[in-house]
Amino acid sequence: MPLPFRHITSTKQFTREDTDAVLKVAEKMENVLAKGGSDLLKNKILAALFYEPSTRTRLSFETAMQRLGGQVITADGLQFSSMYKGETIEDTMMVVGQYADIIAMRHPEQGSADRAAAVCPVPFINAGDGPGQHPTQALLDLYTIRKERGSLDGLHIAMVGDLKFGRTVHSLSFLLGLYRDVRFTLIAPKELTMPPKVTSFFKEKNIVFAESENLEQGLGADVIYMTRVQKERFENKEEYERLKLKYVLKADHLRNRKITVLHPLPRVGEIATDVDPLPGAAYFRQVRNGVVMRMALLAMLLGKA
Ligand code: NCD
Repeated sequence: MPLPFRHITSTKQFTREDTDAVLKVAEKMENVLAKGGSDLLKNKILAALFYEPSTRTRLSFETAMQRLGGQVITADGLQFSSMYKGETIEDTMMVVGQYADIIAMRHPEQGSADRAAAVCPVPFINAGDGPGQHPTQALLDLYTIRKERGSLDGLHIAMVGDLKFGRTVHSLSFLLGLYRDVRFTLIAPKELTMPPKVTSFFKEKNIVFAESENLEQGLGADVIYMTRVQKERFENKEEYERLKLKYVLKADHLRNRKITVLHPLPRVGEIATDVDPLPGAAYFRQVRNGVVMRMALLAMLLGKA
């Protein structure tokens, strides 16, 4: 089933039918990846435009494209780009759209993805727009949760850390909200609570959620989604220093519990390394799932799956 849209800027675009279709294609891509790849996207070019520091997301997109036999052109860092010379996002899309068959862009400004998609002559994927959205991460998170837990309906999800600036938790909340009886415990310091764009969505959809400042409140959940405090979004560096390690998940918290632990990475201390050997520590499996998910999305948007 082709997706009913050409660009991916936000997880709010997705219905449950859409996510189910994407999950199905991702599952098929597992076999392709296990074989080392295919030539499904031969002669296709992905432009990866990353105007904000990123290694893993860019590498994940590049790996996905190359595993499907496609090629990648990249531009890295605002200072090297023509945006530095004053070119608008719109013009950049018009130009890069003449080089590439599909564009993935990360940009520090919230809303930049919508501006890009509005004019982009080829399929466009938002790879993170400031504190806004990060839809491909949320889709790979969804895929990981289903794979680890067997299903999505009925789950209790705890989200921990910087829920204000963390775009991955915003995007993931909208997707999980499509499933039946999913409930949330949102754990954040009072300075970094989940913004109204997400909590009002929960209220509108009658989705059960509780807010707390206490990590212990999340330990009864099926899934605990840890996040990094987003240093780059703070104006006040002292506030960042004070909040950065407010929550540290340790193996001791997880004894005798069957919790799946996720993190979009990079972690900077929020999950102690003694959690890594536990069976529920799924954050490195999550990285591999990112490749199959991005293979699926690239193939679908290019009309090949
Ligand atoms: C996340 C991001 O960029 O929002 N990381 C990622 O996609 N690999 C999370 C983060 O940077 O904390």
